[in-house]
Amino acid sequence: MWTPDELVNFVARVLYEVLTHGLTLDYAFQRVARGWRRLKSFKVFYDVAFDVVRNYFLLRHLAARLFGSEGAKAVVRAWFVYRAEQYFRNKQIVARYRKRLLKRALMTPEDALKSVEELRRDTITYLSVKYSYHPAIVKTLVENLGAEEAERVMEAGNQTWMWLRINTLKADVDKALRLLEREADVEPHPRLSFMVLLKSARKPVQYLTAVRELVAVPQDLASVYAVLALEPSPGDKIADLAAAPGMKTSLIVQLTEGRARVVAADVSAARVARMRGLLKRLGASDSVEIIRADSRKLATRRFDKALVDAPCTSSGAFTKEPAVKVYPRVSRARHYGALQRELLANALRLAERVTYSVCSILPEEGEDVIAGIDAAAERAPAELVPAYRGPGGRTLPHVHRSEAFFIARLARL
Ligand SMILES: C[S@@+](CC[C@H](N)C(=O)[O-])C[C@H]1O[C@@H](n2cnc3c(N)ncnc32)[C@H](O)[C@@H]1O
Repeated sequence: MWTPDELVNFVARVLYEVLTHGLTLDYAFQRVARGWRRLKSFKVFYDVAFDVVRNYFLLRHLAARLFGSEGAKAVVRAWFVYRAEQYFRNKQIVARYRKRLLKRALMTPEDALKSVEELRRDTITYLSVKYSYHPAIVKTLVENLGAEEAERVMEAGNQTWMWLRINTLKADVDKALRLLEREADVEPHPRLSFMVLLKSARKPVQYLTAVRELVAVPQDLASVYAVLALEPSPGDKIADLAAAPGMKTSLIVQLTEGRARVVAADVSAARVARMRGLLKRLGASDSVEIIRADSRKLATRRFDKALVDAPCTSSGAFTKEPAVKVYPRVSRARHYGALQRELLANALRLAERVTYSVCSILPEEGEDVIAGIDAAAERAPAELVPAYRGPGGRTLPHVHRSEAFFIARLARL
């Protein structure tokens, strides 16, 4: 059995790793767990770490008011005061520990919460604390969407939507749905027959029979919209130029029933190896040629269509990856922007029509990249909301119940 002190120490270490090294939550968790003598309550500790990181800025504000400290341990203690009750069945342990923590508190938890409203004068700080997003994310959203819509994005972004794609290369939709419904409650997408939203399940998603048999695969709706924007058709020659680990490639194969010729390229040898295995297991490898290549330089081929699902800050992944809210890598946007432009420019040399997508809320990786490219912009898919400016479109969590992507279609001049 774990003790509250052990939980606080463990989660504080995970938080520290995320804050100082910008690690993803899973990576930070594994790193801390490896050094821990015996981690028995893996799921409890993981869920708490996730919630602490997701609510970091609010908890940090509350920790400063309650305990006079913004350190990682104080932040996790604040979590215990405000959020532990909904996580544990043993309410007595929570009540006892909470009482112990509050003995040293500088004010009541209610007054600490009220103090958030005092920040209202400064919109960025107020929204950053209220919804727990790094001020740089808040600033970008407010500048590009206005405060009201930015607030809706952030509020919705504090939920996770788990979409499953029925892998019709392995089973038909009805059979897959029957299998899923034995263990989970799912809501079909209103228009995409192969997409369902997981509402609740009796087991973690990776243990669902349909998922283990790869009849259903977790894939965010935004990622699916990027592939739909490409309009892959049987007979097409298609290049997926930043393809690993192959989720979008496998959807291209699924949508064309294996009747398009697909080249899937990626620069990373390790990720190419992973993609090879994944495509095989998904039943998508027969019509795909996998190559390891730097797609900025790939020169020998001609394609009808190309997808550039570019490397990026992943600043749009906050619904699933809470570390992004704390450590958004905004300063890397310029580096990625240069790489994205080069990938896109070469894609337009290789193919007539190009779809460009990034999981990012930063215009430096979306609208600004497209603005500098010598190509004709095609109409954005109707499902998307308008881009911040100019061509292309976006997915946003409060509209699509998905991650935040920028997606644009371009045609060679
Ligand atoms: C966002 S991920 C792609 C995800 C993938 N499309 C999917 O849906 O599974 C971006 C990928 O770009 C690859 N990459 C980065 N620079 C590249 C380059 N110059 N040429 C080709 N691939 C590159 C990375 O290795 C990474 O796998």
